[in-house]
Amino acid sequence: MSKLDIVTIPDPILRTSSTQIERVDDEVRRLMDDMLETMYDAPGIGLAAVQVGVPKRLIVLDVSDDEDNPNPLFMANPEIVRLGEETRLHEEGCLSIPGIHVDIERPADVTVRYVDRDGAEQELTTDGLLATAIQHEVDHLDGKLIIDFMSRLKRDVVIRKFKKQVRA
Ligand code: NI
Repeated sequence: MSKLDIVTIPDPILRTSSTQIERVDDEVRRLMDDMLETMYDAPGIGLAAVQVGVPKRLIVLDVSDDEDNPNPLFMANPEIVRLGEETRLHEEGCLSIPGIHVDIERPADVTVRYVDRDGAEQELTTDGLLATAIQHEVDHLDGKLIIDFMSRLKRDVVIRKFKKQVRA
């Protein structure tokens, strides 16, 4: 496994729509493993392939807070097929926007369909932090970021700050 570079804003790739994965083959599995290592190293609880510069519909997650008992999830072509009616408020961060946190209210429980690391179709219904993280990562596949939940004024301040960092 190898650690990959994480893309940060304002890189335009983060605004692209990722494409479907045709087949979970060894190449995709290698990317999954590299993404997981990159995510653990950051550290983070979720990572989308577009965040390592690969605009394919692939996310990895691990919301377990016990380092000795990792619980990695690999989802190719994740599709949220049901959103619950209750909501959950969580202060979200993003590895592509370091240092920025946004309070976001999202549906508290979700059902997601995806293809796992072995190429098998799965359906998962979950709630809590994992439900929040899945929605955050699936947003990445459609070019959506946590700053889009901010007011336009605050978002522009954040974007300007990161553009300045790139120039410096
Ligand atoms: Ni993110």
